[in-house]
Amino acid sequence: MTQQVYLNGEYLPLADAKVSVLDRGFLFGDGVYEVIPAYKGRLFRLEDHIARLNNSLAGIRLPLAHSVAEWEAIFRPLLADDGRDQYIYLQVTRGWAPKRDHAFPAQTTPTVFAMSADILPFPGRSEGIKAITLDDTRWQLCDIKAITLLANILLRQEAVDRGCTEAILVKNGYVIEGAASNLFAVIDGELITPPKGHEILPGITRDVILELAAAHQIPYREDIIALEALQQASEVWVVSSTREIVPVVNLDGAAIGDGKPGPLWKRMDELLQAYKNALS
Ligand code: PDD
Repeated sequence: MTQQVYLNGEYLPLADAKVSVLDRGFLFGDGVYEVIPAYKGRLFRLEDHIARLNNSLAGIRLPLAHSVAEWEAIFRPLLADDGRDQYIYLQVTRGWAPKRDHAFPAQTTPTVFAMSADILPFPGRSEGIKAITLDDTRWQLCDIKAITLLANILLRQEAVDRGCTEAILVKNGYVIEGAASNLFAVIDGELITPPKGHEILPGITRDVILELAAAHQIPYREDIIALEALQQASEVWVVSSTREIVPVVNLDGAAIGDGKPGPLWKRMDELLQAYKNALS
């Protein structure tokens, strides 16, 4: 069946969805995006994703105000009706202007594109993955979910080239987040994740994990984590909407804990699955 996508107010086959080569998303990476899971056809934490989208839009000074209900109406026809797990990819750029110029054009209409894709089971989630640490070469506004992902792409590719699944980014001796994930460590029985701020993307999965920890009396703290502390942690996880909670069992060639997914990962993964099932 031909996949239908949404582009600027229309639903059309993927192959027919076209934007101008003068679109600022194409020329400059001048835009923002969201990845929103839909479990059994139900959009997960839509309000939170739209709040983050609005922060990203404000961060790049791109005015576009749709209510949560308006976004939901745009996404709904894109989702399969057989209840399989999918996600919505949404991208908003500053649109196109007749002349290439770094500064914003006087008037543009944003380009709004959305499509769905299946969430496929990620084998690393139960087996654990290998990760490497790399210097965080990104810019200083990592809380904006910008489509300009060149640094993230190069970092992830370096991890893959070295036989690893994720790159964990280091700044001034502290670990920050993954190339496309947030980071958790279990240190002395306590779950720790770096605090929100300009250095990390405020992940929705991260929020859910902290809420589940609070609700189930699992000790947790939002705090900076030194690289040496991460190397000694009993568990390390990288988390995101599409892969959920992924245990890191090997970091820079050395085992984390006993080299297997740890007990707190197992507990939190069960809590997350139960939470998702209770919503649908
Ligand atoms: N990325 N940090 C970065 C840099 C990310 O790219 C992502 C997710 C996260 C986790 O955020 P969330 O829990 O809301 O998915 C953290 C998405 C999945 C992507 O770029 O495809």
